[in-house]
Amino acid sequence: MTDLSMASSATQSVLDVDAIRQDFPILAQQINGNPLVYLDNGASAHKPLAVLNAMDRYYREQHSNVHRGAHTLGDRATMVFEGARETVRAFVNAGSTEEIIWTRGTTEAINLIANGLAERLSAGDEILVSRMEHHANIVPWQMLAERTGARVVPVEVTASGELDLESFAALLNERTRIFAITHVSNVLGTVNPVASMVAQAKAAGAITVIDGAQAVPHFKPDVQALDCDFYAFSSHKMFGPTGIGVLYGRKQLLEAMPPYQGGGEMIERVSFERTTWNTLPYKFEAGTPAIAEAVGLGAAIDYLNRLDRVALEAAETGLLARANALVETVPGMQIIGTAAHRVPVMSFKIDGLHPSDIGTLLDQQGIAIRTGHHCAMPLMDFYGVPGTARASFAFYNTLDEVEQLFTALQKIQRLFA
Ligand code: ALA
Repeated sequence: MTDLSMASSATQSVLDVDAIRQDFPILAQQINGNPLVYLDNGASAHKPLAVLNAMDRYYREQHSNVHRGAHTLGDRATMVFEGARETVRAFVNAGSTEEIIWTRGTTEAINLIANGLAERLSAGDEILVSRMEHHANIVPWQMLAERTGARVVPVEVTASGELDLESFAALLNERTRIFAITHVSNVLGTVNPVASMVAQAKAAGAITVIDGAQAVPHFKPDVQALDCDFYAFSSHKMFGPTGIGVLYGRKQLLEAMPPYQGGGEMIERVSFERTTWNTLPYKFEAGTPAIAEAVGLGAAIDYLNRLDRVALEAAETGLLARANALVETVPGMQIIGTAAHRVPVMSFKIDGLHPSDIGTLLDQQGIAIRTGHHCAMPLMDFYGVPGTARASFAFYNTLDEVEQLFTALQKIQRLFA
């Protein structure tokens, strides 16, 4: 396995992408007779050997159920499982592991919050979300609104794909109970100014929730600096396994919230007269958790921590810049989302071509992108499109792959548009 401390150089801040790609065995394959060019990282990213090996080792040497205590393997499993929680805590800079709840992913994390805040809402209250949210940060709030008589109010976006901050400020009022916002748009790549928005929402008395699913593959969030109440993300988009995600929650709020699901680890004592809840974070972790997946996520974070972050971000900026520079080489191609601050995610359309046809024709050339509404229908409505084609890059992508994408798009445009 490649030693990542050598794969990037802190002094030159240049990522050795060729060395890094050796850590991702899935990338070295042919698809439809062409080398795979994987540009669907926003949907799910690939796993380095460090993650595969950690999970393999876990099952070979360490597995048992956690927190059951009576034997060595149980202790070993508990140690690596709780060690991963500490790794996550440090990654988001939470004050305590009591504030790190394992979930199945971002979607479950947001559902957990929405369920837990129901008692705080009543008719006429408002839940502010933005038009650029993933459905996972809209629908749970609509369900909560349905239960409580509250209203979901959208913050609008501008044509360039940024949030309309004036309308946001104007929408905040004494009825705003919850403000839920994505850190990074999965469609547009826009990095939202969440810290200042959270500060404004808090000043209005709202509980603040950040969907970090598309942020964590690109940069480290700092929940204390953001001063948000909740921050949710998934493992599989940040090079960890599927089936696990994280909810950071402010301790005081988590303590006040009711459990999400009943059973297993989440109890202190059960009787038919009265059942009481376990302490944090276990109160929210009913049933046997995804232990191997937690270990895998911990290994993914360790892997990212060994990379030179400055070099990683510079490499990603370089990928997006190259893509932007090539747009004019494809007649009729338009980028959707041109915000000043973006991660390397590029939604686009090409005159005369349906997004799903673009996806299929690219796949024939070995290039994987995502097409469709990207679980963001209100944003599609805003742009007046049924869907887009989306290339989403990761640090293991190369400039050569960006060029292959555009060469393929030129060919598709010439032959089919
Ligand atoms: N939310 C994921 C995406 O944007 C699935 O592709």
